[in-house]
Amino acid sequence: MKIVVTGGLGFIGSHTVVELQNKGFEVIAIDNLSNSSIEVLDGIERITGKKPTFENIDLREKAAVQNFFKKHTDISGVIHFAASKAVGESVENPLLYYENNINALVYVLQEITQLENSNFIFSSSCTVYGQAEVMPITENASVQPAMSPYGNTKQIGEEIITDVAKVTKMNSILLRYFNPIGAHASGEIGELPLGVPQNLVPFITQTAFGLRKELSVYGNDYPTSDGTAVRDYIHVVDLAKAHVIAMQRLLNNKNIDKVETFNLGTGTGSSVLEVIHSFEKVSGQKLNYKIVGRREGDITEAYANTDKANTILGWKANLSLDESLASAWKWEQKIRS
Ligand code: WQD
Repeated sequence: MKIVVTGGLGFIGSHTVVELQNKGFEVIAIDNLSNSSIEVLDGIERITGKKPTFENIDLREKAAVQNFFKKHTDISGVIHFAASKAVGESVENPLLYYENNINALVYVLQEITQLENSNFIFSSSCTVYGQAEVMPITENASVQPAMSPYGNTKQIGEEIITDVAKVTKMNSILLRYFNPIGAHASGEIGELPLGVPQNLVPFITQTAFGLRKELSVYGNDYPTSDGTAVRDYIHVVDLAKAHVIAMQRLLNNKNIDKVETFNLGTGTGSSVLEVIHSFEKVSGQKLNYKIVGRREGDITEAYANTDKANTILGWKANLSLDESLASAWKWEQKIRS
């Protein structure tokens, strides 16, 4: 069966391509290489022995999307990762985010809803919950007004998919990620943040490697165990496996509703200081950090209630925070060697 992975050379996309190939799927990876590199194809091949078909397509080009789907009429499903995802950048440049994250989604949906089998997995985010009132967060938690244009594009994306599924053959699963971290155990693929990392873990590994002077911990006056903010850090390989299980659910017509939503997290919250201490333990290195003021727009805590994913999707995160950070550190050292 042929599965298209948009953003297939990106951080989560590339790990999902590996897991799809491991399950015997034929994969076409689409990427415009705006936030990834063509060498990721070789990394995937070194892991699975198979290089996925690759098409360098910018999904903002409607004609290019139409031509792709004209060429590939035997597609069984699409997993859509392709999107811009930097919260801060989205505030500075909202139109870039609405064009890339919404227009591209619409063009892809216009094509797949013409296919015999339209099974669509959407990369969403826990950011849609904002600061949820109740922890752990269930899928029924209310979607809060977005804190950024990036978060808004995820909310709008989910609404578009829901509207389209109502009036087409398309079946879809929305996967709301918590905080993806880590890298494939082989050290062949991982996160490649461009420029100064916005996210915590790549900033930690770059600091440990000496690329950054020190980590700034954004606030220790939150109402949490140690004052630093709490998140649910999930290993990217666990996350990738969830995408394969979700796609299999649709392919086997096991979905109960035309659009289903699942939180993908470990179910455990970790504070920034706990992440730092875990990293120091697994790396054997002291991390240079200082406490500074809170970052605009950050929430106090978010971690997933994973009951629905565990029981209905039949998926559970297996890898620990220590294993995730050890894999991220191995990857950082590999790419700098
Ligand atoms: C985690 C914690 C920071 C950097 C974002 C997006 C979310 C998803 C994941 C795409 C927070 C603290 C961070 C640093 C720090 N992206 N931190 N110093 O903000 O939870 O989520 O990335 O889907 O949609 O919103 O992740 O890694 O930026 O921050 O203290 O240099 O680490 O304050 O508490 P976040 P993050």
